[in-house]
Amino acid sequence: MNYDEELRILLPQQVKPLQRYYLQNDQYVWVRKASNGNPMIYYKLLKILTVYIFKLPIFQPAYRGKNLAIIDEARRLNELNQAHISAPKLLAQCHNGLMMSDLGKGQPLKTLDDLMANRADCKMAIFPVWKMGIDALLNLHNKGQYLSQAFARNMIELTDKRVAFLDFEEDPANILSITECQVRDIVFYLLSTVHYFWDETDIEDALNYCNEQHPHTPPETLALFFKTVKKFKWIRYLHSPYLMGRDGKRFAKSIRFLANLLERIEK
Ligand SMILES: Nc1ncnc2c1ncn2[C@@H]1O[C@H](COP(=O)(O)OP(=O)(O)O)[C@@H](O)[C@H]1O
Ligand SMILES: [Mg+2]
Repeated sequence: MNYDEELRILLPQQVKPLQRYYLQNDQYVWVRKASNGNPMIYYKLLKILTVYIFKLPIFQPAYRGKNLAIIDEARRLNELNQAHISAPKLLAQCHNGLMMSDLGKGQPLKTLDDLMANRADCKMAIFPVWKMGIDALLNLHNKGQYLSQAFARNMIELTDKRVAFLDFEEDPANILSITECQVRDIVFYLLSTVHYFWDETDIEDALNYCNEQHPHTPPETLALFFKTVKKFKWIRYLHSPYLMGRDGKRFAKSIRFLANLLERIEK
């Protein structure tokens, strides 16, 4: 199969920025088309907010624009595959799009965010799914790798129960060190998951689990994690329902988790 040729034919027909296709060789693939997401001013403002106002440069946006995003994603997919990390395989690339393998091989797969949301709705324990995600993330870090946006919605559970990673349109290592990228991953993962914990037992399990992992974490990563969380842990005192709204409350809950974690590790 000539994937480059397929990509050249499919891209002009494509209506969505990301679409799945069924090819003649019985294979499902995904095609990402370079497309205008948020206007670049959005990223500039986010940079001012993270770097200059909150002085948390590790959270600055790393998106470089639609065509460079294709180059970044193609390179990251190759690097992750070379490091034997579960992510789609790059099949073809051109200036305005790329084609990658379908991790579900035709089957729809659930993201860890879907799984945690379902469990929260059914009042089931969140910790087992949460642990799958953090284990997969720490394993990837041990291999010297990092993600783009380590949110639970960019992690999917494969049919063999392994976790795979998606969505690499930005490469934070263009502007940050590997240690900074990895701390950013851990904070993003925690911020995108901890709000699902509806039960104290889950929170305790997760705090204990993180605490158990910390002796295996490189000292420079731990130091930067501490420094980062210390800068924003004051947010946990923002309780007022009038001030916060639903997202705000979720955020404050995650920050309380991070602050508790810090206290536990420092003990
Ligand atoms: N290569 C792939 N294999 C399987 N599913 C995919 C693949 N790429 C995208 N998806 C599906 O599309 C969704 C959105 O993909 P993502 O790369 O996160 O795009 P977006 O830029 O829209 O966030 C994923 O949650 C997943 O369900
Ligand atoms: Mg995504």
